[in-house]
Amino acid sequence: MEEKRCAVVTGANKGIGYEICRQLAIQGVQVILTALNESQGMEAVKKLNLPNVISHQLDIKDPSSVARLANFIETHFRKLDILVIIIPKNIHYYKLRMIKLDDKEFRDGGGFVNLVDEKAHLLTHIIKEPYELGEKCLEINYYGTKAVTEALLPLLQLSKSPRIVNVASIYEDLYWFHNDNEKLKEELQDIKTLTKERIEEIIQWFLNDFKAGMLKENGWPLTCCAYKVSKAALNAYTRLVARKFPNIMVNCVHPGYVVTEMTSQTGFITTEEGAKGPVMVALLPDDGPSGVFFDKTQIAPFSSADLKVE
Ligand SMILES: NC(=O)c1ccc[n+]([C@@H]2O[C@H](COP(=O)([O-])OP(=O)(O)OC[C@H]3O[C@@H](n4cnc5c(N)ncnc54)[C@H](OP(=O)(O)O)[C@@H]3O)[C@@H](O)[C@H]2O)c1
Repeated sequence: MEEKRCAVVTGANKGIGYEICRQLAIQGVQVILTALNESQGMEAVKKLNLPNVISHQLDIKDPSSVARLANFIETHFRKLDILVIIIPKNIHYYKLRMIKLDDKEFRDGGGFVNLVDEKAHLLTHIIKEPYELGEKCLEINYYGTKAVTEALLPLLQLSKSPRIVNVASIYEDLYWFHNDNEKLKEELQDIKTLTKERIEEIIQWFLNDFKAGMLKENGWPLTCCAYKVSKAALNAYTRLVARKFPNIMVNCVHPGYVVTEMTSQTGFITTEEGAKGPVMVALLPDDGPSGVFFDKTQIAPFSSADLKVE
């Protein structure tokens, strides 16, 4: 009899993560739905009402929480087959301001669709991007994802068909970096020479420029800058992991522009549709691609010449 696959989904008490759990469980996968808040995770499992979904607490930026999850998987399942990382939460970044505005102005302004640098000057009253929240965004999105990945890699190595799916964003496309940053774009794309240390130097370089008010001068993205840099760094990290562990299928997926709390319900598609790409990539056959970026269910470039949020 074929062994049941075991999956962990982070940030899954709501939104796309919750729906990914549902779709994986329906396909027969044993799912560990993780949530920052333990009782919200338990509530989500109760709501799903599927026999093969259980919950566990996980704060991806807290090493002891990550270690507890790894111990739990080892004790109960001995290995891990699928790790889906919902990379939270650029909302840290915008929510302060959006709450004050009751989200209305953001929605009326077209939501995330309009977060393009050409409109940066129009957005200053809608979105506030203080340095401290930018730093936090990188700490969670990049360093948190890296910590979870590294803690669970030994358990993934014990699987016959291991998969890592980073639920990413088209905001990770190098399109958002400006032309005067061409050399950096080349560096982030050249996976043969890129290292983890260099990715982290680039993050630090960005943070220094952000603090010093030098984003424009050095070609960094101007709107949602930390989010875009965190996602580009993650995309590069994903490809490094794919190169280092050829037996693990490691990919990034943009779910589409989805109606969730994160988008203040301004998305174009439902969570059910948004979960389809990540679930498809989590269940890719053994001869599938690794180290690539999917825009929903299609392979897409890391650096597009033109891009629309859709
Ligand atoms: N929605 C879209 O249109 C869209 C588009 C492109 C990419 N994405 C990506 O899709 C993913 C999910 O988005 P969503 O729209 O479903 O967002 P969401 O509804 O805001 O869900 C985010 C989840 O992350 C959890 N979280 C926050 N901080 C955490 C931490 N430190 N450790 C573990 N979990 C944490 C949240 O928990 P709490 O509930 O406790 O806060 C929540 O469960 C994100 O990676 C996002 O960047 C979404």
